[in-house]
Amino acid sequence: MEARQIREGIFWMGAVDWDRRLFDSLIPLPDGTSYNAYLVKGSSKTALLDTIDPSMYHQLEAQLASMERLDYVVAHHAEQDHSGSIPAVLAKYPKASAVCSPKCKPMLIDLLNVAEERIITVDDGDAIDLGGRTLKFVHAPWVHWPETMLTYVPEDKILFTCDFLGSHLATSELFSTGRPREREAAKRYFAEIMMPFSNLIVKNLDRIEGLDVDVVAPSHGPVVSDPGYITDCYREWSAGPMRNKVCLPYVSMHGSTRLMVDALVSALVSRGVAVERFELTGSDLGNVAMSLVDAATVVIGAPTVLGGAHPAAAHIALLANALRPRTKFVSVLCSYGWGGRAVEQISGLIGNLRAEVLEPVVCKGLPRSQDLQAIERLADQIAAKHRELGLV
Ligand code: FEO
Repeated sequence: MEARQIREGIFWMGAVDWDRRLFDSLIPLPDGTSYNAYLVKGSSKTALLDTIDPSMYHQLEAQLASMERLDYVVAHHAEQDHSGSIPAVLAKYPKASAVCSPKCKPMLIDLLNVAEERIITVDDGDAIDLGGRTLKFVHAPWVHWPETMLTYVPEDKILFTCDFLGSHLATSELFSTGRPREREAAKRYFAEIMMPFSNLIVKNLDRIEGLDVDVVAPSHGPVVSDPGYITDCYREWSAGPMRNKVCLPYVSMHGSTRLMVDALVSALVSRGVAVERFELTGSDLGNVAMSLVDAATVVIGAPTVLGGAHPAAAHIALLANALRPRTKFVSVLCSYGWGGRAVEQISGLIGNLRAEVLEPVVCKGLPRSQDLQAIERLADQIAAKHRELGLV
C-alpha cells in the first residue's frame, strides 16, 4: 500500500496486516491489525513517528523510497511492532536520530540493539520544531508500557497516540467510519491490552482532553477524526458502571461441570441477571476479555484433572488476573472425581482481582439436588449483590 495523505505534509505510512491472527503469541486477532507509522514534514526537517513490525518493513521501505532525508524517528513505545524497524530506518538514514522518552532509551538499546549515540531523549512537554510544525511530546506511562509517550502537533491539532486509543483492525479505510465493527475492535483492543491500567488511563484521558485535538492517529487501526467518540469509549470501559452481568468461562470433560453451568445460567436468567457464557476449548479469549470489561461478577467453571483445576480453567484464571478487570464478585463451580484442590488453585491465581469471593459450589461427579440448590443460592447471592450495587 502506498503512503496516504492525512494533511498536507502529514502522511500515513505503514502496513495493513490482514492475515495476522495472533499477537504476543497470545492475543487473537480475528480482524487482523495494522502498523501505522506517520511521516510529518516541516519546512526544514522531517520526522517519522514510529516504524512498523519488522516482518513488513519492506512496505515502509518502499514508502520511504523517494525520501532522501529524514531527521528524526520518534519511538513512542519500544515494543517491536512499532520500533522493530527503527534499526533499519536508522541504517537507511545515517544522519537521523531516534527520539524517545528517557525510559524508552534503554529499551531501544536492549530490545533492538539501537546504538546509544543515535538516540535523543525528550522529557514531558519538550518540543522539536520541524519548521512551521512542532512535535510536542506528552509522556503517557502505562498505556501500556512504562516508557510510552504521545506526540501532539498543535498546528494541525493531531495527536499521535501509538497503542493508546488504537484497535487491532485491518481495513482499507484510512479514517474510522463509525461502524459498529470498529467499536468492537476498539473494545477488544482495550480489553486485551489497556484494561490492566484502567486507573492510569483515566489520568491520561484527562491530560489529552486538555489538548485541542481534531484527529487521533493511533499506531493500530483506523485514524479517528472524532476524538470525543474514542475517548468517551475509553472512559466508559475504564471507569464506567459495571453491568448486571456474569462472565462465565468454563470447561467440562464429561458433562458434570456443564450441568452445573447450565443450572447457574438458568437460575441467573430467571433472576434478571445477564450471562455471557464461554466454553473455553472453543472460545476466542478476546471475547472473554471483552466480557470482563464490565461484568460485575465472574464465575469460573472447572472440573479437576489429576487432582487439580483443569488447565484451561487455570489459564483463564491466570489471564483474568493479568488483565485486572474491575470485577466486584467472583466464584467457582467445580465438579471433581476423587478429590482435588481446583477451587484453592483457582482462588490462588486471581489475587489481583479486588473482588469479593462468593461461596463456590463443589460437587463430586454429577450435580445432585443439594448441589443444584447450592447453585440456586449462588444465583440468589449474585442477584442480591448486583441489586445492592444498583445494577438491577
Ligand atoms: Fe502495538 Fe504495545 O505495541
